[in-house]
Amino acid sequence: MARILVFDSGVGGLSILRVLQHNQATQSEHHQWLFCSDNAFFPYGLKKEAELIARVTNVLSALQEKFQPDIIVLACNTASTVALESVRATLSTPVIGVVPAIKPAAQLSQSQSIGLLATPGTISRPYTQKLIDEFAADCRITRVGSNELVWIAEQYLRTGMVDNMELHRILAPLRDAIAHHKLDTVVLACTHFPLLIEFLHEQLPEIKHWVDSGEAIARRVAWCLNQRETAPPPADIVPPNIALFTRLDDNIKALERALNYFDIRETQVLDLPPISQ
Ligand code: DGL
Repeated sequence: MARILVFDSGVGGLSILRVLQHNQATQSEHHQWLFCSDNAFFPYGLKKEAELIARVTNVLSALQEKFQPDIIVLACNTASTVALESVRATLSTPVIGVVPAIKPAAQLSQSQSIGLLATPGTISRPYTQKLIDEFAADCRITRVGSNELVWIAEQYLRTGMVDNMELHRILAPLRDAIAHHKLDTVVLACTHFPLLIEFLHEQLPEIKHWVDSGEAIARRVAWCLNQRETAPPPADIVPPNIALFTRLDDNIKALERALNYFDIRETQVLDLPPISQ
């Protein structure tokens, strides 16, 4: 049995959990899945880098101490592109970060015109620029940083409703790039966005490749599981999957149906130690 913690500011972590629970290399009835949303500090996309580093490091340390997961997936591009180093230096648990899938997008794009859809934080990170310089220097990148799109995904998981007019407005720069320089590939560089994939397809049918990091993360998790010195025997009783939140609010109840899909029937509110920021 392995206990795998998937962490994000909000429901974006569920897009990664969905892949992990369905990928052949990582799915197992012998795993316990912990999903944590740092809803008290949501959204991450508008936070300053220093406060994000302190917050994510502190919350993950508390989670490590309380649950002792075998692997932590930092299922958030906004946090991974800035806090991964600090988190890894502080925690003893292996931490897998989720960062923009710019390399595969550059390989897939035929027009060498790529859209980067992310939070305002991820868009402006030196880490993201470094990925572009390294893997997509010969591509034209259209950057769209949107906090509103994160909210649309949060609402969608709770209500099943999507504001298509707002979506249309947010995607305007990509539509423009399709018309003017044949943009054919979009990187979904925020874990919230794959949750909206059917609506994104509908809005921009011209896009040939929507690229996210889910499958690459599953390969990495599988690799980490194989690295464990002695694989523990399958447990007779696997503890139930748990959803953890950093603040109790009405939005948690509204997520119940979505969480059931992940076989998560227990929710807890984390009792965090005072966080130094
Ligand atoms: N899901 C997060 C990401 O992958 C961002 C959401 C937020 O802004 O809090 O970037």
